[in-house]
Amino acid sequence: MTMIAGYAHFVQLAESLQWDETDLDLTADRAAWPELTDDEQATVRGLIAGFVIAETSVAGQLGSYQAAARDDSMEATFRAQARDEARHARFFDLVAAEVLGVPGANPAQRQDVLRGYVSSELVDLFEHRLPATARQLAEDHTSLTGAVGLYHMVIEGVVLLAGQQAMLDTLGGLSRELPGVRKGMELVLRDERWHIGFGSRVVQGAELGAEQADGLLEQGETAAKVWGDLISSDAIESAVRQHRRRLKAAGIKFW
Ligand SMILES: [Fe+2]
Ligand SMILES: [Fe+2]
Repeated sequence: MTMIAGYAHFVQLAESLQWDETDLDLTADRAAWPELTDDEQATVRGLIAGFVIAETSVAGQLGSYQAAARDDSMEATFRAQARDEARHARFFDLVAAEVLGVPGANPAQRQDVLRGYVSSELVDLFEHRLPATARQLAEDHTSLTGAVGLYHMVIEGVVLLAGQQAMLDTLGGLSRELPGVRKGMELVLRDERWHIGFGSRVVQGAELGAEQADGLLEQGETAAKVWGDLISSDAIESAVRQHRRRLKAAGIKFW
């Protein structure tokens, strides 16, 4: 076994980066929203819908990962991550309810509405494929590397990162600013960076076969497309390039 230090520094990092979605001031965002053009609203709504569905799903899957952790420090890191993902889900739901005015008495009702704004592939990835992978992991802890490959490398490293970058670009070009949403997006991205770093580290400690390694690359390329027209093909290519670089840096070889 190669020497792998524990994961405790990720838990410390997570602790130092804590924030609270209810501290964000969305007053200016609420005032600006009705002034945006229909196209601007459609893009922001589509991306926020994707984030609500994605973060709600990922937040609920980490229990299986905790159970399959190889040691206590890895378990504690998955737990710290689950706390972040739950906060991300609350933040995006808050934006949907208070800025976008998505109807619904609770997050589940708003999610029903928001599913109509994203592709069925996006819903399938987050509400079927990821939960199925987590269920399999709960039964067979040896599938941890592949499960982290899907969650941290493909979903967080490609799908969510590409979406978050597209959102920041969109926010930068709007006719009216949404400062509270922007601040929250930056905080989410800061959390996601350590999640991806943690996942890369878990994958790095494991031996991956040729088939599994190629699979991770292919999954990244396919998964990025779930955003459809909401993200430019340039942004997708850039996310896939970063994904390939990250996998290589984690010592994964492609055949
Ligand atoms: Fe997240
Ligand atoms: Fe994350």
